[in-house]
Amino acid sequence: MGKDVIIACDFSSKRETIDFLEKFGELRPFVKIGMELYYAEGPEMVRELKARGHKVFVDLKVHDIPNTAASAMRVLGGLGADIVNVHAAGTKRMMEAAKAGLEEAYESFCEREGKRGEKPLLIAVTQLTSTDEEAMQHELLIEKPLVDVVLHYAKMTRDSGLDGVVCSAQEAEGIHDACGENFVTVTPGIRFADSQKGDQRRVMTPAEAKKIGSDYIVVGRPITQAEDVVSAYERCCREFIG
Ligand code: C5P
Repeated sequence: MGKDVIIACDFSSKRETIDFLEKFGELRPFVKIGMELYYAEGPEMVRELKARGHKVFVDLKVHDIPNTAASAMRVLGGLGADIVNVHAAGTKRMMEAAKAGLEEAYESFCEREGKRGEKPLLIAVTQLTSTDEEAMQHELLIEKPLVDVVLHYAKMTRDSGLDGVVCSAQEAEGIHDACGENFVTVTPGIRFADSQKGDQRRVMTPAEAKKIGSDYIVVGRPITQAEDVVSAYERCCREFIG
């Protein structure tokens, strides 16, 4: 997979999501669905998006005992998801189990489909960007600086054999330096230079994210709330992919 813009489809129903995507005509953007939509509509939502020709990032941030994480990945891999994720805080053992579950599902998926597509990427969340250093140190009792914890979790993710991490665009460069250029960085918190930040704090433009080497940007409201959603998506692609 190369550099791409992933649209965060933060909608509450399948109808709303499909109505939104129909505006794109023949274009088939890479989309992300999160807990709200997945819990509301279930695995059928992923199958429907795949059948319509979209690549799908299923953002469920799995965090459980290794056996349960592996079972969750067997389900998601069997749906043909292109990117799935876990919390690095689940530990190496959990990430390795998740990877094994996903690989098993991928093999059965290929057998069922009668062809080998691209292998799904398994990535990890390091520290949520909503967790600040104060909360991490005083509530979670993790005493190190936040930036060190993020880098440590990223290295642990790489050592568990995963493909990359979700991180803020500000962290992408340091993570590539520490974990290698091929380690994938998926970065939300993207805003156009002239658009509202909303509740995001540390934001970057698509062009800046390109410059610091993000592999995928996740863009929600700057596209979903735009007056012309297709132009906003195309502007993102122009600025990020070139
Ligand atoms: O609308 P906006 O562009 O802020 O949407 C960003 C998307 O990325 C949302 O779906 C949000 O849940 C997700 N996300 C994030 N920060 C993270 C992880 C995921 O904003 N650290």
